[in-house]
Amino acid sequence: MAGDRYAKRRKQLMRKLRAKHAESLLVTNFTNVTYLTGFSGDDSFLIVGRDKTILISDGRYTTQISEECPGLDVYIRPQKEGLVAATAKVARRAKIRNLGFESNSTTVDQAEGLLSALKSTELIPLSGLVEELRLCKDPQEVADLREAVRQAEKGFEVLKATLRGEQTELQVAHDLEHSMRGFGAVGTSFPPIVAVGPHSALPHATPRHVLISDASFVLVDWGANGQTGYKSDLTRVLATGKISSKLEKVYGVVLNAQLAGIQKVRPGVRCCDVDAAARKVIEDAGFGKKFNHGLGHGLGLDIHEGPRLNSATELELRPGMVVTVEPGIYLPGWGGVRIEDDVLVTKDGCEVLTSSPKAFDEIILDF
Ligand code: GLY
Ligand code: MN
Ligand code: MN
Repeated sequence: MAGDRYAKRRKQLMRKLRAKHAESLLVTNFTNVTYLTGFSGDDSFLIVGRDKTILISDGRYTTQISEECPGLDVYIRPQKEGLVAATAKVARRAKIRNLGFESNSTTVDQAEGLLSALKSTELIPLSGLVEELRLCKDPQEVADLREAVRQAEKGFEVLKATLRGEQTELQVAHDLEHSMRGFGAVGTSFPPIVAVGPHSALPHATPRHVLISDASFVLVDWGANGQTGYKSDLTRVLATGKISSKLEKVYGVVLNAQLAGIQKVRPGVRCCDVDAAARKVIEDAGFGKKFNHGLGHGLGLDIHEGPRLNSATELELRPGMVVTVEPGIYLPGWGGVRIEDDVLVTKDGCEVLTSSPKAFDEIILDF
């Protein structure tokens, strides 16, 4: 039963709370609320305690909550009662003496409101407990991620077949979203990046009213938001004009770096060592300073979540983690190349969930 899945997560959270000497946790990150309950709305907090779990929400969500999390205790606050005041009331009624709260998502105003309303409750700032649980995906989450990958890749196939020089970056971004929705996505996992020429040297470029035919290659970074909120994230570069030796060279370095990174992904390997394996390929080719971000990030209900693949993260990979591997080389005034795939850490290695073609001869479009 779906409810058991969420109850199991809350039980795991309680174990973590006990280790922090906290009796209960106020969850203020809406994505964490979803992860712990299955409730897909927002503007709601959750108190998870030993004896009681209570969702604090409002009248817009009464029916939705009864459908998505039957059996869960709910407090529906009246319109004139704010979320913090309602939370304090619930905590007082439940006689909670000791309440952890997510200090990485609770605002200063909310924390001050709780402190002044709960004079006889000890409030303990706690950070990242639910995020730690979210690091490793269960089989249903992996299936949901696979579905988001399928939607993204099907949509991209349609895009490649219909891409024309007279489209603008913005039109391409729009068409890509439309085709992913046609394959079942409820939307994009983030606003797609479509960038031609020098604009592609901005790792997070915003699409413009600029024609695809204005340059000889286009970078597309996109993903689907699946029905259950799990997200995919890919990047491909497509050659749409005269192929320069520079593009071929830079692309080859990035692809080799990505393959070196992926090869390193397995349980027990530190995130920073995966980053280093890919980064070394780019450094050895003389482009080290032009790879100006971490190698990748975890993927799940959020487009960016733990674990981070960068030079600072010493956490070891574990089975069930899903990460992007996305090295890039960005040359201001010329353009950028990034290749991004989604990778599942398995018991004895990894599985690349994404399969859009990426060999150099496969990214050349017949334009
Ligand atoms: N789409 C943003 C990223 O690749 O992290
Ligand atoms: Mn991306
Ligand atoms: Mn990414």
